[in-house]
Amino acid sequence: MRSYITNKRKYLLYFYILLFIGCIYLVRRYDHIVPTTNRKSLDLSRSNNNSPITNPIKFTKKAEFPLICPPNKTTQKCPTNNYPTTINDYDEKQNSSSSSSSIESCPDYFRWIHEDLNPWKVKGITEEIVEEGKNEAFFRIIILDGRLYVEKYQKSYKKRDDFTIWGILQLLRLYPGKLPDLDLMFGSGDKTVINKSDYEGDYPVPMFQYSGDDEHFDIPFPDWSFWGWPESNIKPWEVQLEEMKNGNKNVKWEKRKPFAYWKGNSKLGNRKNLLKCNSTRSKTQIFEQLSTLEDRDDLKQSDIDDQCTFRYNIYMEGKAWSMNEKYLHACDSMLLIVEPKSYEFFSRGLLPLTHYWPINPSKLCESIKFAVNWGNKYRDQAQEIGKEGSKFIMEELKMRYIYDYMYHLLSEYGKLMKYRPSIPSNAIEICSEAMACNTIGKEKKWKFDSLIKAPSQTSPCSLPSAYHPQILKKFLSTKQEISRDVEGLEGVGL
Ligand SMILES: *[C@@H]1O[C@H](CO)[C@@H](O)[C@H](O)[C@H]1NC(C)=O
Ligand SMILES: *[C@@H]1O[C@H](CO)[C@@H](O)[C@H](O)[C@H]1NC(C)=O
Ligand SMILES: *[C@@H]1O[C@H](CO)[C@@H](O)[C@H](O)[C@H]1NC(C)=O
Ligand SMILES: *[C@@H]1O[C@H](CO)[C@@H](O)[C@H](O)[C@H]1NC(C)=O
Repeated sequence: MRSYITNKRKYLLYFYILLFIGCIYLVRRYDHIVPTTNRKSLDLSRSNNNSPITNPIKFTKKAEFPLICPPNKTTQKCPTNNYPTTINDYDEKQNSSSSSSSIESCPDYFRWIHEDLNPWKVKGITEEIVEEGKNEAFFRIIILDGRLYVEKYQKSYKKRDDFTIWGILQLLRLYPGKLPDLDLMFGSGDKTVINKSDYEGDYPVPMFQYSGDDEHFDIPFPDWSFWGWPESNIKPWEVQLEEMKNGNKNVKWEKRKPFAYWKGNSKLGNRKNLLKCNSTRSKTQIFEQLSTLEDRDDLKQSDIDDQCTFRYNIYMEGKAWSMNEKYLHACDSMLLIVEPKSYEFFSRGLLPLTHYWPINPSKLCESIKFAVNWGNKYRDQAQEIGKEGSKFIMEELKMRYIYDYMYHLLSEYGKLMKYRPSIPSNAIEICSEAMACNTIGKEKKWKFDSLIKAPSQTSPCSLPSAYHPQILKKFLSTKQEISRDVEGLEGVGL
């Protein structure tokens, strides 16, 4: 009987200890998920989320402004008073005088913002030329006094438009009151649409697009995947990047397969030429990934993991840019880039032999074979190129810079606008609450994971000036020279 009682006490004691630990755990975790202020938001964060939100953009811990969702699935009007409308407001509430004084300079690729907006430098952007973009655009975004309105023209593939708009809403939360009034036309397809030769002497339509190329005036803008791509199980960039960083540590370069690897939809562009390069002898492995839609590139989380187990990865554009470039580049493997026509907003900052190995499309298989043999012979150098490429992505393409790029691009665009936009009759106001509250599953998780919860405590990085035309010319010709040198090497052999 006595032993029964002591046992019982013992168990009780254990029970209390466990309960105590559990409480501490819960409290800490709660702290993380629902930092402050509004109790109403609790139920939402709770149901939404089982893992802590990783949001390395740093704010002071004091005040955060989580989304307040209505209790049931009523469609809710966008609230007007639950988020600071200017950074100054916020500073006063915080009473922090520590707000940044040392403003760092943005990465060099930001200089392309000036080049991309150059066509409108002289005459500015008028309502007339923006309106002209309606036929090509997928949607139009109007920002007026910090609020966002959308007019849709065409249906986007999957959730491209949705996550793009979400990204801009987060930008507004990061830098409230800092963006000017804006009127923006967005393309959401794969291809650029504002053909330069259609506008000789005329004034082109300013059209934002996920990529650009030399034959078009389209203005490259960060694609939706930075906020996540739930259909493909691709997480928001910030989370993804962190996972890749850890993944890279686990697969040492020397232990990776000494092959060049490519997987994708070979029906696009000139990729069928890649199929011919498939050969164990030339250490090249090419895999076909048929997409549910024949003309699309699909990328899955598992592909990202697979590709990082090879020493060399191949990037080849399809119909136009392919969004997997940044994932390929973050692997620590040396990236072999088949000279592309399209670029993303950041990729013009990449340098051959520093960040990647250039591949000549007209001698595709030989070039790849040579690169692999070179890398397997000069391992240190090959590793170095792989590392530098990853470093570029990890450091110059971190989420903070994505927002800063958008901020500067849109601010510069705003300076060129000659009119104050009005809200088109078919446009509806959209806010983070409207986009996130009534979603489910991954979409909901991705959105809450990428939600900006408080205004930035620091200013955006400072925009570097435009390239001097002479220097830009030199930069581009140096790039070409390096690629030619590599071709020369191929001719000579190892
Ligand atoms: C849900 O919405 C309806 C009307 O839209 C309202 O009458 C009802 O009270 C709401 N339910 C809760 C639990 O708030
Ligand atoms: C802000 O901080 C200063 C000292 O740092 C203090 O004198 C002032 O009263 C504070 N203002 C508010 C509104 O709390
Ligand atoms: C651009 O327009 C010109 C002239 O109309 C045409 O020859 C060319 O193929 C077009 N380019 C693209 C990429 O569509
Ligand atoms: C390339 O070769 C490998 C085996 O060496 C094979 O498994 C794969 O299916 C081939 N890829 C294509 C696209 O034929």
